[in-house]
Amino acid sequence: MQSPTRKRLLEAFTNANGEFLSGQALADILGCSRTAIWKHIEELRKEGFELEAVRKKGYRIVSTKDRVTENEIRLGLNTEIIGNVIHYLDSTDSTQKIAHRLSQDGCPEGTVVVAEEQTNGRGRLTRPWHSPKHTGIWMSIVLRPKLPPQKAPQFTLIAAIAVVQAMIELVNIEPEIKWPNDILINGKKVTGILTELQADADKIHSIIIGIGINVNQSITDFPDELHSIATSLAIASEKKQSRATLIQLILAKLEKYYLLYLEQGFAPLKILWESYAISIGKEIIARTVTGSIAGKAIGISDEGVLKIQDSDGVIHDIYSADIEMKDKNL
Ligand code: BTN
Repeated sequence: MQSPTRKRLLEAFTNANGEFLSGQALADILGCSRTAIWKHIEELRKEGFELEAVRKKGYRIVSTKDRVTENEIRLGLNTEIIGNVIHYLDSTDSTQKIAHRLSQDGCPEGTVVVAEEQTNGRGRLTRPWHSPKHTGIWMSIVLRPKLPPQKAPQFTLIAAIAVVQAMIELVNIEPEIKWPNDILINGKKVTGILTELQADADKIHSIIIGIGINVNQSITDFPDELHSIATSLAIASEKKQSRATLIQLILAKLEKYYLLYLEQGFAPLKILWESYAISIGKEIIARTVTGSIAGKAIGISDEGVLKIQDSDGVIHDIYSADIEMKDKNL
């Protein structure tokens, strides 16, 4: 975690929107000396920020190194709660594991853990999650809603809306959501979401939303077994993308929809989610731990449970499953 002065310096540059800020203006905003400002500027330079300094005009940030350091995420972040505390790790086994520990130690709501690389990233059903260095977004977010644990699956759906909208804004590609936690582009997985809980029987202590996004991998960066099922934003858009910008967009949208949810419940989000969902109205097979159910996906409940209608007209509630589209070309 960074010093409050560094945080406010980056906020000042964010608010300046690419305009110059004089050393004196910065010193006034931050309530410190111009020498202290200069020292912070030098440290940002060492971290890879390119800062332009022009006499009588001051400083502005021209570019960054495309890392996902706390500083790079903070520069351009427009949120009140989510991202107020950011833990950046060059390498870790799993951001999810770190977020669990921080949450147990009482970290504030909105804490974000982000890593350049995970050596033991995990997905749903304890599957491994491939998380190579400097290519993707591997992050976990801690929320503390005052809700019963049954509401937790809704958070996977809210996070999926935030990720899809952030991708549309960044690259103008419209990904689709496959219930419950996959985001696909051209039928291949670009993002997985893993929502975990720390809770009593009747009360959530924290929800930990883990988001893994393939951003800048080329196809050869994926292991062979993933070639036919995984993709990245760079492959889909034929251009490398800024991971820090995508994180900023996701955090801002997640905060917006989280606050909407706390105010109005899941109903408005359910409509949004269904508008991005690939499987609704289609024939699917849901493979659950107790067996498979085939039928038409007719929607999700207010709790985020998938509803499938089989050929006899019986409606099944699916709480957890892997979904296969019957027509693979859809
Ligand atoms: C899935 O599709 O099964 C979910 C994948 C979730 C991966 C993310 S990456 C950040 C966070 N840390 C982890 O170890 N897993 C999640």
